[in-house]
Amino acid sequence: MSSETLEELKVSPGIWVLCLVLVVALTGFLAYRSLGSYQHASKGKFVSSKACQKCHPKQYESWSQTRMARSFEVLRPNVSVEEKKLVGLDPEADYTRDSTCLPCHTTGYGMTGGFVSIEKTPEMAGVTCEACHGAGGMYVEQMKSVRGKAMAEKTLKAAGLVYPPRDPVCRHCHNEKSPFVGMDYVFDYSERLKAGTHQHYELIYQPRN
Ligand code: HEC
Ligand code: HEC
Ligand code: HEC
Ligand code: HEC
Repeated sequence: MSSETLEELKVSPGIWVLCLVLVVALTGFLAYRSLGSYQHASKGKFVSSKACQKCHPKQYESWSQTRMARSFEVLRPNVSVEEKKLVGLDPEADYTRDSTCLPCHTTGYGMTGGFVSIEKTPEMAGVTCEACHGAGGMYVEQMKSVRGKAMAEKTLKAAGLVYPPRDPVCRHCHNEKSPFVGMDYVFDYSERLKAGTHQHYELIYQPRN
């Protein structure tokens, strides 16, 4: 080793400390970013409401009439004009590609199988089944063999089903980060449940063909 290399080695601890500080700062920043932004109720692959329709046709039919099912549409130009003006959004602007709106007006944005764009993933636009019940990648398979309530509760939940979806699930989107609600926004779960999700039907706990 030449004496020059030795000199370099002597300054290196300082560089390592600097690197460490940078890494810690970057990790902290990323963690902060992910906490600050939208967090979905579940991990896993999204499969779309079409995958639920066959076995839950009534819930599907009823859900498709809700405003949440169609909530992607309000991002289009010249839709909900008065509402947008009230909160200072440009009613003529196209928000269908705006990453600040998409997490709450689509399902699984930025996640596996989730919304990418209206051209690529039209079935993931709006607030779909999986926005409330969790990504179906694993539990839909399990549903094919469910026999009995106890089994449903145990196996389906273990596979990521969110049932029943309570307050915290709704608050992923129903919170003050929406431009349409003020800091004093109160989300009344029991009232909202009556108004917005879908009609509820008796479960039969029988595998369907
Ligand atoms: C944090 C989630 C969230 C984000 C981000 C968000 N929204 Fe929304 N938006 C909501 C919720 C929830 C409502 C319904 C509020 C209610 O009824 O309590 C709503 C309502 C609306 C409405 C009114 C719908 C109607 O029927 O009149 C429009 C329009 C709208 N949002 C557009 C946007 C646009 C444009 C953006 C991006 C600039 C955006 N939103 C970002 C959650 C969000
Ligand atoms: C992925 C985001 C998201 C989740 C999760 C979510 N919502 Fe919403 N919700 C919205 C958006 C966006 C709107 C505005 C739809 C519009 O007007 O276009 C809305 C609107 C509503 C409305 C008004 C619709 C109407 O017909 O009056 C009700 C009620 C509602 N949500 C209840 C709930 C409940 C209850 C939950 C939880 C079980 C929930 N939401 C979960 C995004 C979400
Ligand atoms: C905005 C949230 C939300 C969306 C979107 C949603 N659900 Fe639900 N779902 C609920 C809630 C909340 C309950 C439980 C209500 C309770 O019993 O407390 C429920 C209950 C159910 C049940 C149990 C039986 C029943 O009818 O109550 C089934 C099955 C179901 N949902 C399937 C679906 C399917 C399929 C879709 C899409 C086509 C869907 N859900 C979309 C919130 C949602
Ligand atoms: C192959 C048929 C099948 C498919 C596909 C399917 N389910 Fe189910 N699901 C069932 C069966 C069977 C049950 C047990 C209750 C019953 O018999 O009605 C069930 C129960 C549920 C329950 C109530 C859970 C409980 O603990 O009782 C919810 C919520 C639900 N499904 C949502 C969904 C959603 C959301 C999708 C799509 C992502 C979906 N299901 C796809 C067959 C299916």
